[in-house]
Amino acid sequence: MHPMNINWWPSILAADPLQFREGLEKIRTAGLSGVHLDIMDGHFVPNISFGPSVVRAITQNYPELFRDVHLMLSRPEDFIPKFIESGAQSITIHIEIAEDSLKNSLKLFQKYSIPYGLAINPETPLEALTPYLDNPPHHVLMMSVHPGFSGQAFIPETYQRVQRLRQQYPNLLLCLDGGINPKIAQDFLPFGVKDFVVGASFFREA
Ligand code: DX5
Ligand code: ZN
Repeated sequence: MHPMNINWWPSILAADPLQFREGLEKIRTAGLSGVHLDIMDGHFVPNISFGPSVVRAITQNYPELFRDVHLMLSRPEDFIPKFIESGAQSITIHIEIAEDSLKNSLKLFQKYSIPYGLAINPETPLEALTPYLDNPPHHVLMMSVHPGFSGQAFIPETYQRVQRLRQQYPNLLLCLDGGINPKIAQDFLPFGVKDFVVGASFFREA
């Protein structure tokens, strides 16, 4: 179902919220090494998910699972230290937030020496990333749905966007997030994409 030459990052948001432990066991049983944690503030995206206490509980109970935290927050700088204290090992923020929030967040990543990613929404011009790629982030998280909910349909324009970004930045680590299933992921392998977030296709399909 999920080929192994790919790094799958299951998004716990798509698991049964009353059975997160079961979801985490599923990740472990599948032999995967990390979990994607979608944090939403009800402002940057029209949904609220969970906060640092959930990240902390996962850290304590599943210390071997790498915690990849995706912050869909308008002001991530207010929470970055808290998420790091709670066990986040990589943090992604969005390029669409206000410039001062972005800059303050980058300073915090440097201060705490934590690998960080920059996420870009489907409608945001790729050029928005340009000023931030001279000093490259650990990864770029290309959104292939409008963020806020798991279980949405993959947006096909993502193919062209990935192709364009890849041409400009051949060495950038690119990860895709939203509506991904194994079949769609296979189509991105020729573009050198090996990292995929999987929500519904991992947790809700047999
Ligand atoms: C979207 C989140 C994604 C999403 C993944 O807001 O960032 O991580 O929940 O779930 P699927 O794969 O179901 O789109
Ligand atoms: Zn995500």
